[in-house]
Amino acid sequence: MNRPVMEGLRLNVPAYVKHQRLVAWVAEIAALTEARDVYWCDGSQDEYDRLCQQLVDAGTFRKLNPAKRPNSYLAWSDPTDVARVEDRTFICTPDKADAGPTNNWMDPAEMRELLQTGDKALFKGSMRGRTLYVVPFSMGPIGSPIAHIGVELSDSPYVAVNMRIMTRMGRAVLDVLGDDGEFVPCVHTVGAPLEAGQADVSWPCNKIKYIVHYPQTREIWSYGSGYGGNALLGKKCFALRIASTMGRDQGWLAEHMLILGVTSPEGKKHHVAAAFPSACGKTNFAMLIPPQGFDGWKVTTIGDDIAWIKPAKDGRLYAINPEAGYFGVAPGTNAQTNPNCMASLNRDVIFTNVALTDDGDVWWEGMTDTGPSHLIDWQGQDWTPEIAKSTGAKAAHPNARFTVAATNNPALDAEWDNPAGVPIDAFIFGGRRSTTVPLVTEARDWVEGVYMAATMGSETTAAAAGQQGVVRRDPFAMLPFMGYNMSDYFQHWLALGAKLAESGASLPKIFCVNWFRKGADGKFVWPGYGENMRVLKWMLERVEGQGQGVDHAFGTSPRYEDLNWQGLAFTPEQFHTVTHISHEDWAAELKLHDDLFSQLAHKLPAELRDTKAKIESRLAKAG
Ligand code: OXD
Ligand code: MN
Repeated sequence: MNRPVMEGLRLNVPAYVKHQRLVAWVAEIAALTEARDVYWCDGSQDEYDRLCQQLVDAGTFRKLNPAKRPNSYLAWSDPTDVARVEDRTFICTPDKADAGPTNNWMDPAEMRELLQTGDKALFKGSMRGRTLYVVPFSMGPIGSPIAHIGVELSDSPYVAVNMRIMTRMGRAVLDVLGDDGEFVPCVHTVGAPLEAGQADVSWPCNKIKYIVHYPQTREIWSYGSGYGGNALLGKKCFALRIASTMGRDQGWLAEHMLILGVTSPEGKKHHVAAAFPSACGKTNFAMLIPPQGFDGWKVTTIGDDIAWIKPAKDGRLYAINPEAGYFGVAPGTNAQTNPNCMASLNRDVIFTNVALTDDGDVWWEGMTDTGPSHLIDWQGQDWTPEIAKSTGAKAAHPNARFTVAATNNPALDAEWDNPAGVPIDAFIFGGRRSTTVPLVTEARDWVEGVYMAATMGSETTAAAAGQQGVVRRDPFAMLPFMGYNMSDYFQHWLALGAKLAESGASLPKIFCVNWFRKGADGKFVWPGYGENMRVLKWMLERVEGQGQGVDHAFGTSPRYEDLNWQGLAFTPEQFHTVTHISHEDWAAELKLHDDLFSQLAHKLPAELRDTKAKIESRLAKAG
């Protein structure tokens, strides 16, 4: 095989690599970025352990006390590199209208000049002094007809080890790729070249950041950040932004959804896919343990963040989780809110931006009622409950994360790795809303469901940089993750529903939930977490054509007596607080839908405007 050798740089191509186009591309990127050397990840445990040790030696990782948390590590990021940067995320399509009004857009040629070709192009020399890691990965079971392959070239060993947990990564992927298979090229640099003799820092990054997608050529280029969705390019960049455009072109859906299985005491199993904005409890819902009063019920996890959903020959929609691990928010997770998650985190975890205990373990806000008497916080400072009280200092960053393999989850569904996926019975959409939106509403049909999902609003969280707690429209919980025009995406959902209905299939039911309504005291009224099972059971009864409810202006909701309250003291008054529909609030809410529809007016499907008009007239009659 002709191995391209550049001046001073060997590509170190392993003998098992047969894909000349891949090798040529690696050579091209290595030359552009002036990487010091190239390392091809094979995905083995041995390699993982070696890279983790290298990260320990470099000061990026701290090995946690093996007696407390075997084979686990803690990383603290640069304090400016802690979340996804939505304002630096770009969809570069030749025609601006294809990116749509909800995305940042730049002309592809202009962006390429900025990143790759211009005199001062950011990627030129960006990996100087660093190793370029070649990270082949499969989104979905290796070799599955639903899976797609990507190759990330990154100068961050932190990325390489996280990708080994989050995806099926390594040599086996290249074996499937053969000598000419298709892959999505993903280029990532922390943007911190090292000059000769320059000492490295523990978390290299750049204050300039670009997270760039070229849907037309299915490429991803990420510059300047080492954190989460900015850097682990299989996740948001590929599995949502690029995959959404693949889904549009090929007739499937790439969604920001968890997937779970529910088995009844009689052994009947349903599957639901649920979309919630970032840091709104998807991981908790996916790992739910049924509460008292639900003996014999079982919830199992297929995925906690992303679903790829494809229509099958039987007319039903089948979903796979393209990921292999969880990159979840740590703060708030504890043995009461999510025991399965806590059990998943007992070993083999990479923690990022949580606090370090004096005995070499981790802690975050909400793990226990009060923190230990002393910690080192995520910025390396002393932390005590007294300091926290007087300064408000957080021990863990609110967007602190864990990276852990799905196989650590005691509630993992037996079908989680099934290449064919699981059939979806219901879609659930839920925002974080202190007011207005009731606990649960069933859409009367597919179009009404698409309307609910399209107009969903949510209070912003720490998962993205920027102001927190402000309500923004987050259609389908996909606002930060859409790879194309949002109105075209609504149309894609409508068209898929119509096509399935035409084929005679019974469509999944669509529900809208809100676990987050607050009372006059400003506290959450609904207990949430495992208690969400009460709502889930009602939804499944509706799927089965059994549960009761009342029709209202925008759907059907249960009455108090329609839910199982065994084991929970929740009064009809409390139920009223989380379910009542205020006509005044809804008049204001519909104005916000108006704002969204004006923003998306250019291609907005007429069905959605019609649905809104119907809701308005029903509200007017009811009022
Ligand atoms: C995530 C997110 O990391 O949505 O899953 O931000
Ligand atoms: Mn997410």
